[in-house]
Amino acid sequence: DIKGFTFDLDGVITDTAKFHEQAWHALATELSLPFPDELARQLKGISRMDSLQMILDQGDKSYTDDEKANFAARKNKHYVTLITGLTPNDILPGMFDFIADIKQKGYVASIASASKNAPTILKQLGLTDYFIGIVDPSTLAHGKPNPEIYVKAGELLKLAPQQIIGLEDASAGVKAIQDAGQTALGIGPAVSQDNLQLWFADTASVTLDNIKQKLTQ
Ligand code: BG6
Ligand code: MG
Repeated sequence: DIKGFTFDLDGVITDTAKFHEQAWHALATELSLPFPDELARQLKGISRMDSLQMILDQGDKSYTDDEKANFAARKNKHYVTLITGLTPNDILPGMFDFIADIKQKGYVASIASASKNAPTILKQLGLTDYFIGIVDPSTLAHGKPNPEIYVKAGELLKLAPQQIIGLEDASAGVKAIQDAGQTALGIGPAVSQDNLQLWFADTASVTLDNIKQKLTQ
């Protein structure tokens, strides 16, 4: 039986992708690099340094590790200013009700986000107390699609993988959940091709009743 949930943050609980995109786009422009829409899509769920590398790969200059660390820090500084305005109103439709409902019914939840800013974002959304814990991405050897982050998020719940549903809006994350042995719940168009028993077009459709209904189908 399902007893807990592991949550991706960006794109599942709130839409911070637009701010990541804005901050990366600004950096790319500073470096005279193109920033096509397709690249913006590919960056979803990808760690800070891997994202930077994909942006730098649009050009042919090579940079030292120090320069790269500096670019990443600059992007993050910009990103952090963009997210200071986040409030509980920025929780995606239906997600507050879902998170409150599972807590009220005794399910446990944790966060499996690649973002080092996740604790700040949860605090601004007023959601910190709804989660048992947040995986610290700086402790990870590998990013999504590697299952490590979901394995750790499951350990925080003290549950077996079979007792956990993981929520994701990106294919790399869905694969990470599945390889961690948890049941993947995919949200949105980016994961509609992933052949999931639990697929929802949008966050508003994610309810315990709808999940139960799909699981018994
Ligand atoms: C993921 C985002 O949640 O976190 C990525 O989808 C982002 O776009 C990654 O690069 C790392 O986030 P941060 O806040 O640590 O730079
Ligand atoms: Mg996401």
